[in-house]
Amino acid sequence: VRRIGVMTSGGDSPGMNAAIRAVVRTCAYYHTDCVGYYRGFQGMISGDSVNMNARSVRNIVNQGGTILQSARSKEFLTKEGRAKAAQNLRDAKVDAMILIGGDGTFRGGQVFSEEHDIPVIGVPGTIDNDIYGTHYTIGYDTALNTVVEAIDKIRDTASSHNRLFFVEVMGRDAGFIALNSGIGAGAEEILIPEEDLGLERLLDSLERSRRAGKTSSIVVVSEGDKIGKNVFELAEYVKQNLPYYDARVTVLGHIQRGGKPTCFDRVLASRLSVKAVELLLDGEKDLMVGMMNNEMQSCSLDQASKGKHKINKDLLRISEILST
Ligand code: F6P
Repeated sequence: VRRIGVMTSGGDSPGMNAAIRAVVRTCAYYHTDCVGYYRGFQGMISGDSVNMNARSVRNIVNQGGTILQSARSKEFLTKEGRAKAAQNLRDAKVDAMILIGGDGTFRGGQVFSEEHDIPVIGVPGTIDNDIYGTHYTIGYDTALNTVVEAIDKIRDTASSHNRLFFVEVMGRDAGFIALNSGIGAGAEEILIPEEDLGLERLLDSLERSRRAGKTSSIVVVSEGDKIGKNVFELAEYVKQNLPYYDARVTVLGHIQRGGKPTCFDRVLASRLSVKAVELLLDGEKDLMVGMMNNEMQSCSLDQASKGKHKINKDLLRISEILST
């Protein structure tokens, strides 16, 4: 492998820049050329790229977003789109790719590699933390801290007005952000897709906490929660059944994807990305790098895109105990 391409794809996440920096600098360290592709698979299809050297990535380790920009490419889902991308890489003499993104990125990368025999290595970057083969994904820790900081602020106004707040957080079909930020921010209840709490139990619990003397409460709701109502309907339902609650809704939205990466995310991104380049230089392909129990590991891209990263349900029990 003489020339490595790198791109970021799917929803951006804080720490992607630290990952790009580490890929580019590791290539420079091993005297290997590095090419950045803009807007993920879309830039590979249109040949929108930039030659990168160690100095191209100065002053970005601390920046949110991604200097290579990101996209969810529809064209790459087609055989023709992937063939165009492969041709562009061959023309540019790029003989392997590092893909920084989530499971959709890895699925696309695996099909691409099988069809065109171009080795790829995945680096998990998503705030959702829902990737098999790694205990942490790049951006998750920063997103958690953003959420906790936001809920702390909501708590101030909730307690001043004796209100109940439903705070919706991201995570797609996974409850990692909700569960961990909920515990960190001291939420009364945490609703996640992996566990159906049920409406009755939610009402019981809110009623119990009222009786226990709580005057304000925060319920963290994962956007993928399966309770059968969206967060606004849920707040309405609670107001109707427990009229003494003055309920409000806050949807945190895309602020969860922005901001300076935490030190944890910067170190994680750096470790994963150095490993990704080294795997390619060792002749490996179609793997995703991950961190399990603080050790760098790898699994097949196939496992990474199909497997499920299990949530620690014991955290629900912890939350229940602590909201007594
Ligand atoms: O996968 C990251 C994520 O932020 C999810 O948590 C969320 O469901 C989704 O992306 C939002 O996507 P978009 O930015 O395209 O609206």
